[in-house]
Amino acid sequence: MDWLKRLAAARVLVVGDVMLDRYWFGDVERISPEAPVPVARIQKTDERAGGAANVARNIAALGGQAHLLAVVGDDEAGSALERLLTAHGVKASLHRDPDIATTVKLRVLARQQQLLRIDFENEPSHEVLAAKLDEFEAMLPQVDVVILSDYGKGGLRHVQRMIEIAKAHGKPTLVDPKGDDYDRYRGATLLTPNRSEFRQVAGRWASEDELCAKACQLREKLDLDALLVTRSEEGMTLFAASEIVHQPTQAQEVFDVSGAGDTVIGTLGLMLAAGLTLPQAMEWSNRAAGIVVGKLGTAVVHPEELFGDSE
Ligand SMILES: Nc1ncnc2c1ncn2[C@@H]1O[C@H](COP(=O)(O)OP(=O)(O)OP(=O)(O)O)[C@@H](O)[C@H]1O
Ligand SMILES: [Mg+2]
Repeated sequence: MDWLKRLAAARVLVVGDVMLDRYWFGDVERISPEAPVPVARIQKTDERAGGAANVARNIAALGGQAHLLAVVGDDEAGSALERLLTAHGVKASLHRDPDIATTVKLRVLARQQQLLRIDFENEPSHEVLAAKLDEFEAMLPQVDVVILSDYGKGGLRHVQRMIEIAKAHGKPTLVDPKGDDYDRYRGATLLTPNRSEFRQVAGRWASEDELCAKACQLREKLDLDALLVTRSEEGMTLFAASEIVHQPTQAQEVFDVSGAGDTVIGTLGLMLAAGLTLPQAMEWSNRAAGIVVGKLGTAVVHPEELFGDSE
């Protein structure tokens, strides 16, 4: 199969909370005379697209067409994010809202260790993406699949309308959920909670049977086609109406699990857009996650890594 050609024709729209991950690397040789804290002398900096922007970046890295619709602040971090996305080949429609600050997570590291993380974020006073519904709808005819990447920063608080509109256009909608109110995701094609997110809405389970029962119950209650529970070192399980499929993790080595969820939903959306079935798409997405956890920092997977000889 000519994967590259197939993926190049696959179009995915990602909507959601974007953020900028910043890393400052330095040396620590002394304690500050001002307070009992280390002084880091910064030698190197790095920045990465995070949240929904990382989902879009994962799709572009695999050679798919990634469109991104999101709101950022009218600030330096917003410009940095836009620059990064353009460089990664994401077609980003970032709206600048002067009333909000772009979410930034800044890590200060010395000798491979994190000294401190500093978060810049504020909950927007209004539903920033609600004003973009017209643009969302206008983009739908040009895409095959919609991904809603909810990081609980307020961008998707009223996501229900987007799901309805996407459905009216016949576009599958995949949601990476946050929080404990899943009613707003009603009618989506698929949700991808991780273990703790699922536990937060469905409660604890003591056996696989109990997990199945809880997942099926939630799937029916929310009128979803399927629920994909990602289970860290246990891999992932797909609960669809017609079948339940479990895949163990493919990871050979685990260095950094942050961003694995973005790789899962990005790959899944891209493979569905390329015409694969849900269980087939899940297999690739599990493989991609297994590769990405072996890389340091919020990372992406490239086609040659994913397909190897089958490319
Ligand atoms: N510790 C691990 N060992 C092996 N595989 C892992 C591990 N963590 C994650 N994975 C792989 O990545 C997939 C997604 O990970 P996980 O369930 O932790 O999602 P997540 O919590 O949403 O990730 P994140 O929020 O950090 O991006 C898993 O289904 C599995 O395939
Ligand atoms: Mg996640």
